[in-house]
Amino acid sequence: MATLPLPPVAGPFIQSLRSIGYSLESAVADVIDNSISAQANTVDIYTEWRNSDPVLAVMDDGHGMSPNEAQAAMQLGAVGPADSRSSEDLGRFGMGLKTASFSQCKSLTLITRKSAALDWYGLRWDLDLVERENSWLVVEMDPAECQDFLNEVELSFSKGTAVIWNTFDRAIDPTAVSGERDYDRRIVALIDHLALTFHRFIRGEEVSRKVNLRLNGKSIAAKDPFATKPEPNKQASTILSNETIRLGACSVGVKAYLLPHPTNLSHSFAKKVSQGGDHHSGQGIYIYRAGRLIVSGGWHRLAKASEANKLARIQVDFGNDADSLWRIDVRKSRVDLPSSLREQLRRVITQCAKKSSTTFTRRAKMPSVDPEPVWQRVFDRDKSRVHYILNRKHSALSEMLVVLGDSDTRSALIKLIESSLPVELIKNDMSATNIKMQQEPDDLFHHCIDLAEELFNAGIDKELIQRALVNDSNIGLTPDKANKIVSKLGTL
Ligand SMILES: Nc1ncnc2c1ncn2[C@@H]1O[C@H](COP(=O)(O)OP(=O)(O)OP(=O)(O)O)[C@@H](O)[C@H]1O
Ligand SMILES: [Mg+2]
Repeated sequence: MATLPLPPVAGPFIQSLRSIGYSLESAVADVIDNSISAQANTVDIYTEWRNSDPVLAVMDDGHGMSPNEAQAAMQLGAVGPADSRSSEDLGRFGMGLKTASFSQCKSLTLITRKSAALDWYGLRWDLDLVERENSWLVVEMDPAECQDFLNEVELSFSKGTAVIWNTFDRAIDPTAVSGERDYDRRIVALIDHLALTFHRFIRGEEVSRKVNLRLNGKSIAAKDPFATKPEPNKQASTILSNETIRLGACSVGVKAYLLPHPTNLSHSFAKKVSQGGDHHSGQGIYIYRAGRLIVSGGWHRLAKASEANKLARIQVDFGNDADSLWRIDVRKSRVDLPSSLREQLRRVITQCAKKSSTTFTRRAKMPSVDPEPVWQRVFDRDKSRVHYILNRKHSALSEMLVVLGDSDTRSALIKLIESSLPVELIKNDMSATNIKMQQEPDDLFHHCIDLAEELFNAGIDKELIQRALVNDSNIGLTPDKANKIVSKLGTL
């Protein structure tokens, strides 16, 4: 077989790389991914208009890089998509730093060090130089030059990494009446995007680390599309289901939320949950990779966007071990839903959408405060098998289990209850046409009083009892009725 070397031509190639479809928001998010993967506690974004010569820097206090690592970081293709990564690594292709930066600017500077005792080490891609020389030449900076660059962007860390964009030409719209005002508008949109994309890291929820994300010194507040933390005295969302679905060797978390009715949120809070405070555009599936949001909303042809569905939001979580299954792209802004997951999602979405529309038609059945189901459904795709487990995080349940003393006793009891769930009997009863399945008793209110008393006597906190009465999908008391019962506890 005859072969012929045909390497890319540096000048035109690097220019073409500028147009692979990043927006300012997705480009900055890609650089921040690297900071989070480098175990940063704080990520500072610095930006200034500088009289039509804007600059933007992303700086972190993460583990930094040695000179050799920095060279590999700046080289295109030094790391490949097949290389193995830790489960917390938000990268995949070994491209993001370069492609995201080139999409926005013509001068990319990387300055880094692993500890305060070392000199800063810096490298700079200057696209004009690469084009002029038609060669992959990177500028190596001395420590004094590094320090000058860091002073300019007001670095406040003694170690870590700074990524600095100069000749930031793509941030300027030559047709804008006021370039500076247009730039400010882009920065506001950027803050919005980062607040949503990294909301779990900002709050430190369901991710490996909490990260303080700041722009020009001001912390960015999380934008939680599921409204899990309600305003004082307001309703939170309801978790309708929470299950784990196995796809080959990987697992996918699927959690269905129902947002509170819009009249139960103030406009300023609604704006934190949905763009412009309107739930309609934010309905749909939110897909997270290793805790970082990739896709926000939309139904992916599994349902229709409608007024009736607008309270329905589905959180879908996958790990970076499933990247090829999801066909993630370099920009981390789109994925393909694996076809074997679609049917499972359709079922969850149908249930969630139904609840959304009944919330509008039957306001009496309002979602409750901070609900957690007692039972969780776990679906194993490979074996087409479903089983139910107790939700160990259920607040009242976990508090009661503590009474049982050591954790071995607790887990033995949980296992016993889970394994003795009378599935066959339930199936028979469900299929018998002359028997009505009903878990809650006819006299629900009195049953709740008895249940509340028993929990109270067992030493459970009144607030937890109140929540259990409201959140249990079989009981589902209104907050008012639950309050009535709980306020009488101890006096009956
Ligand atoms: N802020 C940082 N701190 C420490 N190391 C970094 C930082 N930024 C980049 N790196 C190193 O440089 C490498 C290349 O980064 P780059 O963003 O180009 O690719 P990636 O993160 O590996 O994959 P992807 O293309 O999916 O983003 C990273 O894998 C990491 O080792
Ligand atoms: Mg990266």
